Amino acid sequence: MNKIDIKKVWAGIFTRAAPTYDQVGFKLFFYNFGKQLVELTEIPKKAKVLDVASGRGALLFPALKKVGLQGSVIGIDLAEGMVQKTSEEINKRGFSNAKMMQMDAENLKFQDNTFDIALYGFCIFFFPQYEIALNESYRVLKPYGRIGLSTFYRNAFNEIKWLDDLTEKYLPNNKEMDKQEEEPEVSEFETIEGMQKILIKAGYKDVHNKIEEKEFICENAEEFWKYLWSAGYRGEMERISSENLENFKEELTKNFHKYSFEDGLHWNIKVLFTFGRK
Ligand SMILES: C[S@@+](CC[C@H](N)C(=O)[O-])C[C@H]1O[C@@H](n2cnc3c(N)ncnc32)[C@H](O)[C@@H]1O
Repeated sequence: MNKIDIKKVWAGIFTRAAPTYDQVGFKLFFYNFGKQLVELTEIPKKAKVLDVASGRGALLFPALKKVGLQGSVIGIDLAEGMVQKTSEEINKRGFSNAKMMQMDAENLKFQDNTFDIALYGFCIFFFPQYEIALNESYRVLKPYGRIGLSTFYRNAFNEIKWLDDLTEKYLPNNKEMDKQEEEPEVSEFETIEGMQKILIKAGYKDVHNKIEEKEFICENAEEFWKYLWSAGYRGEMERISSENLENFKEELTKNFHKYSFEDGLHWNIKVLFTFGRK
């Protein structure tokens, strides 16, 4: 069996997720934390910002507000669908100091010392060689240029663990894919120590963190279903066979009601922000 090109797989998944990304279910989850990461990174006016794995621009648009007309923001993403949708939005809003480019985070097509700020919103765990990605942003940052990243803080998904258990039941055995997804209980991206170590190893200085928490509510089972197709979770959904999907949806709906309150399913999520400088 050919080795799966996991980067291509994710690019395909996110291209198909792009039309509804962040707009259904736990709506504006990414936008909320994107805005917060931009705030906490303290981006100065006139800065040149690189938004790595931009998605639908959860960080790109708030960053544009910070840099003003004399600054600029370049967003890169490997998923064609994300690049297309976010480019459309940039044009619609009339920004001439922002653009999206289809690019691999592990192979940035920019010269050394180009940017003042590099941002990574919920993406580093998708890069198979994330160390290379961090070396790349180090290279393209100017001296004293700063980096800001968001990841999920430890056990962020505990509240909806039942979803993983249910999905597991419906997933076919796929050794090649499972190998790619093998993860320890708590990954290095989920802890302060882990993220500090990663950034320090890539050469960043003054590394520090902040944890923030916010609750999101998904109103009903149909919205939850749509949500699962609208982000990274789509990767698992697409692996469930079409014959099994209907049964899966039925069980999912039952579970949704079991774990929901009157106003819907609550997800209180903790996010770990990590910062450093070149
Ligand atoms: C969970 S989304 C985060 C998007 C955005 N930063 C946000 O906070 O909403 C992850 C993004 O990483 C992108 N991505 C995955 N692998 C990539 C790679 N190797 N290079 C660039 N982008 C990648 C996906 O296409 C997707 O848009």
